[in-house]
Amino acid sequence: MSEKLLEKVFSIKNDKDGKHKVVRVLGTKLKVKKTGFNKLKGLNLKEKISDFLIMHDKSLDVGIPDDLTLQLSFNSDCNCRCKFCFEFATRQEAEIIPEKWLYDYLVPLYAKTSNLVPTYGEITFRKEGYDYISYINKNYPAINILLESNGISFSRKWAELACENLMRVNFSVNAVSEEYFKKTVWEKDGVFTLVQNNIKQYLELLKEKDLFAFKPSISCVLNSSNYETVEDFIKMALGMGLQQITFFFDNLLNANLQDKEGFLGAITTIAEIEKLTKGRIMLYYTMFLPEFDFDSLKKEIEQKSMDELKSKYPEIDKLSENMSIEKLFEERKQLRAKHNKKHYSYYEEVTSVTYHQMDYKGRIICENPWKHLRLRPNGDFEVCCLRGYNNNVKLTDFIKNDSIDWKKFFNSLVYKKLRKNFINGNYHGCMNCCPARESVPTKDFSEQYKGDF
Ligand SMILES: C[S@@+](CC[C@H](N)C(=O)[O-])C[C@H]1O[C@@H](n2cnc3c(N)ncnc32)[C@H](O)[C@@H]1O
Ligand code: SF4
Ligand code: SF4
Repeated sequence: MSEKLLEKVFSIKNDKDGKHKVVRVLGTKLKVKKTGFNKLKGLNLKEKISDFLIMHDKSLDVGIPDDLTLQLSFNSDCNCRCKFCFEFATRQEAEIIPEKWLYDYLVPLYAKTSNLVPTYGEITFRKEGYDYISYINKNYPAINILLESNGISFSRKWAELACENLMRVNFSVNAVSEEYFKKTVWEKDGVFTLVQNNIKQYLELLKEKDLFAFKPSISCVLNSSNYETVEDFIKMALGMGLQQITFFFDNLLNANLQDKEGFLGAITTIAEIEKLTKGRIMLYYTMFLPEFDFDSLKKEIEQKSMDELKSKYPEIDKLSENMSIEKLFEERKQLRAKHNKKHYSYYEEVTSVTYHQMDYKGRIICENPWKHLRLRPNGDFEVCCLRGYNNNVKLTDFIKNDSIDWKKFFNSLVYKKLRKNFINGNYHGCMNCCPARESVPTKDFSEQYKGDF
């Protein structure tokens, strides 16, 4: 409706002579020289009118979302030094979300928050991090917490807190041995073993408490230093009884373009094992290579028989033979219901991060502009971890009388514009390869794992 109205009110077209533009405002035509056009003050007029209409479009308002995902880049520092870490490449000055935010400004959101995702940097080695998660667990136990951690400081105290909260934890293990850890991640001695021991301790505790369904997922960043370890990484996970394994193809400096053969070997192995273990384990992977022809590879793998794959990966076949993802998720669902947890979507089960999608008039679109807030220590915010930062507006702009007008914030132009864009299929600014976008190669993923979201 508003788009059509805008078209009626305002249009800019190239003139037939090729030298002018014709600007039409409310039926009045103006011929403007192309060269001078860019300097014209009124150039932003179309955008301004569009913004005006968007701000007055009540259908785009949500107030404080009912089913919010709050992703907190709690602190930007870390106790590890991963060679590939994109976070260190963008580290900002402010290091930790101030207490004032955590225990005051954000409080009106907690009652409406379904998922809390502490990530970026490493929350577990900060006392403030432990205190904050304990506070949420005690005062808002219905919130689902999805933690991403390198596991180094995941002590017994953290393991106990995770069990109590039915936390969904992903450990970024990133290696199959001490040797590979040094090669891919960090040269420091003993870190790999320390993490393995912390995970084992957590698994024991989960078993003791009859909560093994909440066993964590583990992930591995892949680049030319470790492509050949895919199969061993999966074996390692299965050997620990884990069923969810994530591979992140290194998105730093186009790392995957530097060794195409290695990359192809790794992605083929993942896709073959995915076919072999379908329904038993969940392999999730993100490629930051939208131009890669994944469809051809998939077709090739579809041709392969299960017998061929079974004899290629006998150990993986054996280790996973009695596993069922459906059973695992069902068990979690029941335990969450028993503990009065809030709604938890299939996507969170699958990815541990937050690809949220919704049905909008028969189309599945990304719902992050409706339900997601990501906050960084310096007040920068975004609607999702995969979009670039929004440099124009800060959350601090919404502080008034020492509190935040959250309703105004979620109905602000930044959010409403994105809602409008996504409804129109415009994902400008999003990652090309994000599975939550429409029409991208990895959209496959969302179709394959489509479930109760
Ligand atoms: C930035 S970390 C923050 C949380 C925590 N410190 C951790 O490592 O799990 C979030 C996730 O991004 C992954 N990651 C870091 N650098 C990456 C890269 N260059 N490409 C792909 N994934 C990366 C990490 O392995 C981790 O799973
Ligand atoms: S553990 Fe996480 S935040 Fe820390 S350096 Fe590694 S990827 Fe980056
Ligand atoms: S489509 Fe955009 S907002 Fe949605 S998950 Fe992907 S990058 Fe984030």
